[in-house]
Amino acid sequence: MGSQTAITVASPERMNRLGRDLAALLRAGDLVLLSGELGAGKTTLTRGLGEGLGVRGAVTSPTFVIARVHPSLTGGPALVHVDAYRLGGGLDEMEDLDLDVSLPESVIVVEWGEGKVEQLTEDRLEVRIERAIGGTAEDDSDPRRVTVTGLGERWAAVDLSALAVEPA
Ligand SMILES: Nc1ncnc2c1ncn2[C@@H]1O[C@H](COP(=O)(O)OP(=O)(O)O)[C@@H](O)[C@H]1O
Ligand SMILES: [Mg+2]
Repeated sequence: MGSQTAITVASPERMNRLGRDLAALLRAGDLVLLSGELGAGKTTLTRGLGEGLGVRGAVTSPTFVIARVHPSLTGGPALVHVDAYRLGGGLDEMEDLDLDVSLPESVIVVEWGEGKVEQLTEDRLEVRIERAIGGTAEDDSDPRRVTVTGLGERWAAVDLSALAVEPA
């Protein structure tokens, strides 16, 4: 069991900010798994992450594209953003994406990646996003409960609690 922190995220802007804060902890070779229902805020978080990493191109919800590579504008790692929603099986279904090849010089963020991409590396950051009031509310602007868990040696000594600190 690695380190874990739980954060209440009140708005899309705060979710974006959490992504930027997360980016500051990330480096090439890191895998981030995002889980949460449709509309939970996975892509919103990834957008902030891309901003924090300083990569090219806006992070969007891909309609047909499964993976998009955002090269760094600052000499840092690229962001590989994968939406595995339409992919059933494990890594072999994603073989064409060559995620194992790009991982060493990239940060890979996977939406709907649970049970699909864990084989890539033993170390990963799991981010679970839950709607506080349940997913069926008419208004989608309710607080999200975000749980960040670091798994493996990479995250063993990383203090994730700073992510939960409200900006002054
Ligand atoms: N607290 C919040 N955190 C994140 N997104 C929120 C929040 N409140 C409302 N939203 C809205 O919910 C939607 C989340 O969409 P998106 O990030 O694409 O979700 P996913 O990628 O998980 O399907 C956005 O329209 C966003 O503006
Ligand atoms: Mg999404």
